Amino acid sequence: MIFVKTESEIEKMRESNLMVSRTHAMLAEYIEPGVNTLKLDKLAEEFIRDNGGVPGFLNYSGYPNSLCISINDVVVHGIPSDYCLKDGDIVSIDCGVYKNGYHGDSCYTFEVGEVAPEVKQLLKVTREALYLGIEQAIHGNRVGHIGFAVQQYAEKNNYSVVRELVGHGIGKNLHEEPQVPNYGKRGRGPKLRENMTIAIEPMINMGHKEVKQMPDGWTIKTLDGKPSAHFEHTIVIKKDKAEILSNFEIIDKAVNKKLKK
Ligand code: MF3
Ligand code: CO
Repeated sequence: MIFVKTESEIEKMRESNLMVSRTHAMLAEYIEPGVNTLKLDKLAEEFIRDNGGVPGFLNYSGYPNSLCISINDVVVHGIPSDYCLKDGDIVSIDCGVYKNGYHGDSCYTFEVGEVAPEVKQLLKVTREALYLGIEQAIHGNRVGHIGFAVQQYAEKNNYSVVRELVGHGIGKNLHEEPQVPNYGKRGRGPKLRENMTIAIEPMINMGHKEVKQMPDGWTIKTLDGKPSAHFEHTIVIKKDKAEILSNFEIIDKAVNKKLKK
């Protein structure tokens, strides 16, 4: 069952998703060598609760924290720990907020200090791939249009697309139908309809596409140990152009402000 949302539901999702992005913007201030990822998790949980939300990932299928913090060769679902960020790391912070009965879900990959040029390029291409996917997320297209656009662009840049993890419908539940793979063929998959809300989240590897799960049951790493990047927006399907509910502009702004210090 794929749900189409009413305007009042979408308004609530705007609020949840904006809170996710505001959490990212708040965290930007703290992202620097030496900070441990559990501290980032605590800051996020406190910020979300102070603003009347509930961390959307906490206890989801038993997930132990508020954020997924995935560093370098960790693709997704990294569990916050006493690991201290170091110069040159890339840190994907996946954040969820549940408020007024609706979920927000977005991920942003940050740079710590001076990141190698080829890794910066991976981040740039992954982010661009997300926006190319979003361009395809319009009424009348199919889910396969999104995956096709993401995959084409990633592979053109000699990167690979993770297959095991996918984007998803979102609303009252964090994960709703349909699944939104970052690979596929135009014209395949369920039809996209106006006012469906989905999370598009390319996970792009610098090396090979294969991944492995760690014994903690959550952490997913690249099999070849090369870095992986992850950006995610929650969006609303519209006739001509999707509306993006999460907001990278406020995160970029916070990142740039931090860089000037
Ligand atoms: N953005 C991720 C997803 O949609 C976050 C889920 S983490 C979990 O799968 F802990 F909540 F599972
Ligand atoms: Co998601």
